[in-house]
Amino acid sequence: MAKRVAVLVGSLRRDSLNRKLFNALKGIAPASLSLEEAPIRDLALYDSDLEGAGVPPAWTTFRQQVKSADAVLFITPEYNRSLPGGLKNAIDVGSRPYGSSVWSGKPGAVISVSPGALGAFGANHALRQTFVFLDVLPMQQPEAYIGNAGKLFAEDGSISVAETRDFLLGYLEAFAKWIDRSAP
Ligand code: FNR
Repeated sequence: MAKRVAVLVGSLRRDSLNRKLFNALKGIAPASLSLEEAPIRDLALYDSDLEGAGVPPAWTTFRQQVKSADAVLFITPEYNRSLPGGLKNAIDVGSRPYGSSVWSGKPGAVISVSPGALGAFGANHALRQTFVFLDVLPMQQPEAYIGNAGKLFAEDGSISVAETRDFLLGYLEAFAKWIDRSAP
C-alpha cells in the first residue's frame, strides 16, 4: 500500500512556485507514495490559551491529518533567510499540547524552492533545526535546494528542466525508501 505523506506547502501565494512544485510532484511521484496536502492557511496563530475547550477546529483537523500520515514532506520558500511564519506556526500548532506532538518519530523531508540562485538554503536548514526538538527523522541525502525556480515550469505546470525533474523523481524514490527504513 502507498505510504501516506502529509505535505506542508510553506507559501500561501496564489501563483506560488512552491505550490507549482507540489502540483508537479504529484504528477511524477512513485506509486509507493501518496502526497496529500495538510493545509496551513487557516491555522490560527498558536496560543496555548485556546487549548482545552476552545481549540480551533482547523487545529484539530491539521493535527489529525499529520498524526495519521506515515511521513511529512515540507516544500518551502525562504523568507528573510528563514522559514515563513505561517509554516512555523503550523509546526507549533502540531507540536502541542505538550506531550501530544504529532511530529514525534515521523520520517521527514524538506524541499526548498526559490527564484534566487541559493535555492532557499537558509529556510531548508532553519526548518531542519526544528526537527531536532520535534523528533522528526529527516532524510539527510539527497538534499533538495531548488533555485532559479521561476524558469522551472512549462505552461502546463510540468517541470520543463529534465535534469531537475529527474533529480526530484530520484528524491521521492529515496524518500519512499527512507520511510520504509524508518518504520517503527
Ligand atoms: C522573500 N524572498 C526571498 N527569497 C530568498 O531566496 N531568500 C530570502 O531570504 C527571501 N526573503 C523573502 C522575504 C519575504 C517576506 C518575501 C515575501 C519573499 C523571495 C521569495 O523567494 C519569492 O517571493 C518566492 O517566489 C516565494 O515563494 P513562492 O510564494 O513563489 O512559493
